[in-house]
Amino acid sequence: MNQARKSIHSIRPMKEADISQVSLIEADAFPQLFPPTSFRKELQREISTVLVAVTNPNLVKDSETPHTTLTQKNSPFTTYRSGNTGWKPGMEFLSGFIFLWNMTTDEPHVMSIGTRRSCRRKGIGELLLHSALTKSICRGAKSLTLEVRVSNIAAISLYQKYGMCSRGLRKSYYTDNHEDGKIMTVDNIQSMDYKNLLNDKWVRLEKRLKTDFYFF
Ligand SMILES: CC(C)(COP(=O)(O)OP(=O)(O)OC[C@H]1O[C@@H](n2cnc3c(N)ncnc32)[C@H](O)[C@@H]1OP(=O)(O)O)[C@@H](O)C(=O)NCCC(=O)NCCS
Repeated sequence: MNQARKSIHSIRPMKEADISQVSLIEADAFPQLFPPTSFRKELQREISTVLVAVTNPNLVKDSETPHTTLTQKNSPFTTYRSGNTGWKPGMEFLSGFIFLWNMTTDEPHVMSIGTRRSCRRKGIGELLLHSALTKSICRGAKSLTLEVRVSNIAAISLYQKYGMCSRGLRKSYYTDNHEDGKIMTVDNIQSMDYKNLLNDKWVRLEKRLKTDFYFF
């Protein structure tokens, strides 16, 4: 546990107390999603895994802590479309989540991933995807798959960074604007080559995020 105290960002499974923050992060990241995910139901569902990124406010620079900046305008923790971060004093501060369904053990499916708008481009999305892949490998999965809007360059670039390749299109998959969904998959995640890739990415991420610990 000493190591955990040193981490600025860490990953753990979602718990009930996180639902308000995760729901707000989802609402901001996926404004067109209706109905929103019932994370309370997902907590009960055996096939669901929701991991959250926790940012330790005691270890980020003073100017970035949610405690000190919640009242300041334009802070990285308060810039939020609804004006409500879902965070209250005494809570852990969540900066993102990844939500998977394990309909088969072999091929888990990423249902969604989102980081707070104010916490993007800091490596947190990557940390979440890395964690989901690591957890899936530990559970015996052989591949990981998902759908992404063809216009979502940021997410596609993240997935490609982890070896995910296009496996075709789902025409008019998104009901709000009939946008196509790109199916992306990474196979052979149990292979030594893929585990080496994950190790290599981890060394870089660790430096970038000063994250040294998974809470699994
Ligand atoms: C996609 C998303 C989760 C990325 O999270 P993030 O914390 O900003 O991502 P990271 O900082 O970890 O970036 C990891 C990689 O993603 C890619 N990436 C992230 N944002 C990007 C952007 N704006 N433009 C291009 N590439 C981007 C890059 O490859 C980046 O690697 P790099 O830092 O070496 O350049 C985030 O943008 C988000 O929540 N978007 C809204 C919800 C969404 O679209 N989810 C995906 C649905 S399928």
